[in-house]
Amino acid sequence: MMKKTNYTIIAGKYNNRYKGNYLVKIEEEIRNLIISNNYQNILEAGCGTGRWISSLEDMSKKIFGLDYSFDMIKIPKIDTSHLNLVNADAVHIPFKDNFFDLIFCVNAIHHFTDKEKFIAECKRTLTNNGMLAVFGVDPLIDKDWYVYDYFESVYANDLKRFTSLKLLKNLLEAENFGEVEIKTVEQVRHNRIGNDIFNDPFLEKYNCSQLADLSDEEYQKGIEKIKNQIVKDPETVFKTSVVFYLVSAKKIKEVKNANSN
Ligand SMILES: C[S@@+](CC[C@H](N)C(=O)[O-])C[C@H]1O[C@@H](n2cnc3c(N)ncnc32)[C@H](O)[C@@H]1O
Repeated sequence: MMKKTNYTIIAGKYNNRYKGNYLVKIEEEIRNLIISNNYQNILEAGCGTGRWISSLEDMSKKIFGLDYSFDMIKIPKIDTSHLNLVNADAVHIPFKDNFFDLIFCVNAIHHFTDKEKFIAECKRTLTNNGMLAVFGVDPLIDKDWYVYDYFESVYANDLKRFTSLKLLKNLLEAENFGEVEIKTVEQVRHNRIGNDIFNDPFLEKYNCSQLADLSDEEYQKGIEKIKNQIVKDPETVFKTSVVFYLVSAKKIKEVKNANSN
């Protein structure tokens, strides 16, 4: 069974991740999708603290955010109470059929317990020709992250948790989505040397789900491993290489067979 990440503990510190890198290319890509297709009704599923929906507010579109963690969505509410936020599970999208032109999802689909159901719900709530755009990483392709080397079981867990690009493409096609496309949107690459690794916000226990999901003992064991490595070699290079992909697909109007009853 998939371990449920506790976003109640994470929520207060979640936005720290964007202090180091604001992932502007993902934002640009979302804006481009909206502008080039003239989308009007837009939903982010798993919107968390609202990094993306807040940045779209100047676009004069109807922007909605949905998240099942009340603690995450109450963070943007503090500053921008006019955002349309819904506290719900992405596998039951509480909107009528054929409503959204675009449903997007950033670094969240791996948390959804039933991906097939989520995709089916997107199909129901999207307009014909509406788009589902899923942004995220694929650890099956990209494994060059020091966290995978120092914290036991994290890489194996990520392989279980994340939906690979290939699987996502298959799920979309199984649900009869058309124009399925995969592209690279943003690459984050940096090296930290020796003790500088402790300035990496992602090394704090509750700044990423990989470490938040570990027990305190497992987390401490990894930290000790890093410290021992620095004692052995103070110039140790800690590598981060993360690639964010976009998998997009369109809802195709289904033609009912005249002979079917
Ligand atoms: C890593 S955060 C991403 C938040 C935001 N999209 C971002 O990129 O900053 C994942 C979010 O998915 C939400 N989430 C997980 N499972 C969910 C579900 N079944 N339905 C709705 N939201 C869910 C979590 O509460 C969390 O806010």
